[in-house]
Amino acid sequence: MRLYDDQLIDISARFQAEMKKGLSAESSAAAAVKMLPTHVRSTPDGSEKGQFLALDLGGSKFKVLQVKVREGMGVRKGGVEMEEKIYPMSKELLNGRAPELFDHVSESLKDFLHVKNISLDKKHPLAFTFSFPCEQTRLDKGLLLSWSKNCRARGLQGKDVVQALREAIDRTGGMDIEVLAMVNDTVATMMTCGFDDQYCDVGLIIGTGTNACYMEELRHVDLVEGDEGRMCVNTEWGGFGDDGALNDYITEFDQDVDATSINPGKQIFEKMVSGMYLGELVRLVVLKMAKLGQLFDGLVPDALRTKGKITTAHVAAMEEYKNGLKNTRDILVELGLNPSQDDCIAVQHVSTIVSFRSSNLVAAGLAAILTRIKHNRHLRALRITVGVDGTVYKTHPQYPKRLHKVVRRLLPECQVRFVLSDSGSSKGAALVTAVAQRLASRKRQTLAPFKLSQEQLQLVKATMRAGLEAGLKNKGPSAVKMLPSYVYHTPDGTERGKYLALDLGGTNFRAMLVKFKKGLQNNTRLYHKIYTVPLEIMQGTGEELFDHLAQYVSDFLDYMGMKKAHLPAGFTFSFPCEQTAIDTGILVSWTKGFKATDCEGHDVVNLLREAIKRRNEYDLDIVAVVNDTVGTMMSCAYEDPQCEVGLIAGTGSNAYKKAETSETSKMCINTEWGGLGDDGSLDDIITPFDAEVDHNSVNPGKQRFEKLTSGMYLGEIVREVLLDLTRGGLLFRGREKQCLCFDRLALLQVRSILQNLGLDSTCDDSIIVKEVCGAVSRRAAELCGAGMAAVVDKIRENRGLDHLNITVGVDGALYKLHPHFSGVLQETTRVLAPQCNVTFLPSEEGSGKGAALITAVARQKRDR
Ligand code: BG6
Ligand code: BG6
Ligand code: GLC
Ligand code: GLC
Repeated sequence: MRLYDDQLIDISARFQAEMKKGLSAESSAAAAVKMLPTHVRSTPDGSEKGQFLALDLGGSKFKVLQVKVREGMGVRKGGVEMEEKIYPMSKELLNGRAPELFDHVSESLKDFLHVKNISLDKKHPLAFTFSFPCEQTRLDKGLLLSWSKNCRARGLQGKDVVQALREAIDRTGGMDIEVLAMVNDTVATMMTCGFDDQYCDVGLIIGTGTNACYMEELRHVDLVEGDEGRMCVNTEWGGFGDDGALNDYITEFDQDVDATSINPGKQIFEKMVSGMYLGELVRLVVLKMAKLGQLFDGLVPDALRTKGKITTAHVAAMEEYKNGLKNTRDILVELGLNPSQDDCIAVQHVSTIVSFRSSNLVAAGLAAILTRIKHNRHLRALRITVGVDGTVYKTHPQYPKRLHKVVRRLLPECQVRFVLSDSGSSKGAALVTAVAQRLASRKRQTLAPFKLSQEQLQLVKATMRAGLEAGLKNKGPSAVKMLPSYVYHTPDGTERGKYLALDLGGTNFRAMLVKFKKGLQNNTRLYHKIYTVPLEIMQGTGEELFDHLAQYVSDFLDYMGMKKAHLPAGFTFSFPCEQTAIDTGILVSWTKGFKATDCEGHDVVNLLREAIKRRNEYDLDIVAVVNDTVGTMMSCAYEDPQCEVGLIAGTGSNAYKKAETSETSKMCINTEWGGLGDDGSLDDIITPFDAEVDHNSVNPGKQRFEKLTSGMYLGEIVREVLLDLTRGGLLFRGREKQCLCFDRLALLQVRSILQNLGLDSTCDDSIIVKEVCGAVSRRAAELCGAGMAAVVDKIRENRGLDHLNITVGVDGALYKLHPHFSGVLQETTRVLAPQCNVTFLPSEEGSGKGAALITAVARQKRDR
């Protein structure tokens, strides 16, 4: 058990290699030393403040605490006030079922609130010191990897510990607790000591178990995105040797301790070092000596054969300066022995060797960590503080001195200060929580206006309903325009022939050839090509825009080898048009970023015809102009005759319904619901971020509902929120990024932009960004759902039905590509229109097929 310096240097080098393994993405899964990211990024800076509850589970004592942190007080007295109560923790609970263990934890918490007269009605933020290895993906989430020390409660391994605690708190009931952070005891210790000493970048525990954490450069932590700054890594060094790395240092006594432990083969280093095992090691050595006849006159007393009879407290007592020998005698007598002076000296010596080995091993591990930090920072010498806690360090009289001495001997170039954590780990846990709380409350405040209540959604539904009615009645302009489409029937399957479909207004311009074959319905063939309309064309002159379209068509006809054919064509034009017939459409106003001049107020069919004429290269018979909602509904109605509504959740947002204006004439109506709110009716739910997006758009004050719900704007709203959070110091470490300021963040780009920003952003940043995206897109889906509920309920009521079964044909990138949009939309529609059973049917080939079907019908009629 004696370890010389060259051996310690060897062990230290092995540990350095293990750390590397644990940090690297390729080897971390199998590494014995787990090197767990903690999501703690900085040591305290004095700006922390607040009042917190704290739980401390995993050391020799289970405690509940209240911690008050006053801002800016730092080192000064009164900066932190703490009250604590120790609660009993039985072996049965530690070895029983995890829910029961956590019930005890949360009941103790409730008792503490009661005893300390802390209000049960108020919400209390809570910090949780949990001293076991957890894989954390954020501060308030951590999966338990394995139990260690004296705990093995069933049913928690692999599960989120914070969640388990929350559930227990719910079961106990009667408290309003927000668990904001879970930290390992090493991390909490580092933070506690870091409050008083800015050089404290290492936390060390030598208690029931042993472990260390330190501030690592983020670029070395493969498991966490980002490469700027630092993150505290919990080494879980207790597992050092679990893969055999220490086999040549393992003694028969270590093997014995391991074999009779609750986790054989695990925590090999911990079993050589920590308080839970030191007494046992001494007992086994003494027992062997007794068996060999070297002690106690050859007697082997029963007490010596019993596990746990010598404890770490005994070890500490035996090594006391003056009383050590007397204590040793007392201990041995208590075990029923009658020791000679030589026996006492020998047993004391054993104890010294065992505890010395422990401090030597800790020194070797610490030397490895400090060396790594020194290299990371490219320093030749290092000034650093190690925060320490744990019963062995605190109660063993010689331990600290020995440890300090060896560390300094192994690292002569480093100036290492050891600071004992005076107040346990909870102060540090509270400091971590204070930062988390500031973040959470700021984030909550920012995102709160995006969370709509059921009442608000009901109101939006009612507003939409009123908008639909007003649009139908009003002669003059109204927010929801309710434009007639001159489409009277859904397809009946008798449509035949070859048609060209042109499609402007979505993400891209599309040209398509559609062939309906005789016989079977669904026997349709489609050929298409996609063209991107450049921004300068979208916003140039009308002539340029339509010339461009004519050129795309020419290219497509070439591509199909059909330049000579004089084809009937349908034109999907996804903007609001005043129609007087199926083949005329006066553009009311551009939407979705288009603003080509000299188009508004003109018939877009004419504009296209003229462009084709100017080109003088091919001929088209433009039979119908249709909105994309109409095209989508027709396309879906071809598959499902119950389809009577079309919905677009794409670049723009719009719904379309078969209207029942009078009994005799039923015509499909393009609602243009994107305009809802243009009269101020949605002002209550419009956030400052929405207002900013509107303000920066090409059509301020217009399409307010669309600007809350469609793909063209969601990214922009997210960008505004991110900018605000960044300015508030919550994101990207407060540094405004150029790209955030100038780039447009359209929906499809969010992911890739996240990655771009993610390169030098942190994992927490990414989580916040994702949360913002989630809040913004959920609201969009809910609003769409509220709108759809209004539409289907109106249809139901028009028909005087108690219950309506209806299908909605849907298209658009937002609906099709967003992972949650469709789900939230459907759920909201279901809740807000409980008397309707709405099936959402995604349109397969876009609105082109629908436009072709309309063209087929219109031509038949015209030619008849
Ligand atoms: C305490 C911490 O101060 O130190 C505990 O609050 C930690 O969480 C402990 O586990 C380590 O010491 P021991 O000896 O109680 O295991
Ligand atoms: C397509 C239609 O299928 O969906 C387009 O043919 C429509 O006209 C589009 O505008 C909506 O989707 P996005 O996401 O491209 O705007
Ligand atoms: C055990 C735990 C570890 C903890 C240490 C000290 O090694 O696995 O998480 O830090 O004990 O309490
Ligand atoms: C815009 C257009 C509308 C179209 C919708 C979806 O709201 O004004 O006509 O249907 O976008 O593309």
